Amino acid sequence: MPEPDIAALALAGLSARPKTLPPVLFYDDAGCALFYRITGLPEYYLTRTELALLPVIAREIAPLLARPAALVEYGASDEAKAAFLLDCPGAPFAAYVPIDIAAAALEAMANRARARWPDLAVMPIAADFLTPPRLPPALDGMARLGFFPGSTIGNLDPPAARRFLAGARAALGPEARLLVGVDLAKDPSLLLPAYDDAAGVTAAVNRNLLVRLNREAGADFDPAGFDHRALWNAAEGRIEMHLVSRRAQRVRVAGTAIDFAAGETIHTENSYKHSLPGFAALARAGGWTPARVWTDPGQLFSVHLLAG
Ligand code: AVI
Repeated sequence: MPEPDIAALALAGLSARPKTLPPVLFYDDAGCALFYRITGLPEYYLTRTELALLPVIAREIAPLLARPAALVEYGASDEAKAAFLLDCPGAPFAAYVPIDIAAAALEAMANRARARWPDLAVMPIAADFLTPPRLPPALDGMARLGFFPGSTIGNLDPPAARRFLAGARAALGPEARLLVGVDLAKDPSLLLPAYDDAAGVTAAVNRNLLVRLNREAGADFDPAGFDHRALWNAAEGRIEMHLVSRRAQRVRVAGTAIDFAAGETIHTENSYKHSLPGFAALARAGGWTPARVWTDPGQLFSVHLLAG
């Protein structure tokens, strides 16, 4: 993303009341590496719970898809989850289309995928998956399975999630299916540590936003002048992440002064937690028909298969 866009995005959010920064800014190289570390943290149950479900899901889905099929992954930061689908015995996939905004990480992963699955056409698309790009013409005539793992859909508010689902449905076509990982609502005593881990990795992700703005948007934040805060907003059914100003301070961003009161926050991320019926209703509103859902025995996480 070119520098002027970053400064414009930051200034728009920091001029709003309450102040916000858009989560898309998390994903520079350092942010991607920190997010990858989060997925292995003991408190962050999401990734390991979803990974444990995927082998069973892959076996059940493979026979449902016509051959040849294309796997289109939204927000594909690495190939670990797609591998369960691509490696499953009887898998019908001839093409893999990973879509992600982090172009360098995407290209590196596409090269690994080409080496690992030499018979697969790997066609990465560096783009924001929220504005689903046209799929490559090479996919014409192939069955399509969209794949949106990791509960990234939870980072969208319900209207945006519905727009994403409708956009994916239009992009994938009428006969397609979509497999979506969705974190489930649960006791905040389990949720909060996942977003405020003991090792401070999530705090580092949050503060990295300020480091990035200093580097790429002509800002002069003191990252140590902001605390990481995660809270459960019960009314909205979401975890919120904030950066809290430790003192009254003035920061410059691309030449514009931004004043912070002590304790004032920048709202940096939402992570919505859904119920099973709640997500099924959202899927219907996005034009899909819920076909199947898998959960772990502890009902921490769910994976939904949606049909066109
Ligand atoms: C990418 N997404 C699903 C993560 C989540 O759990 O909402 C982002 C994240 N934010 C803090 N930790 C992880």
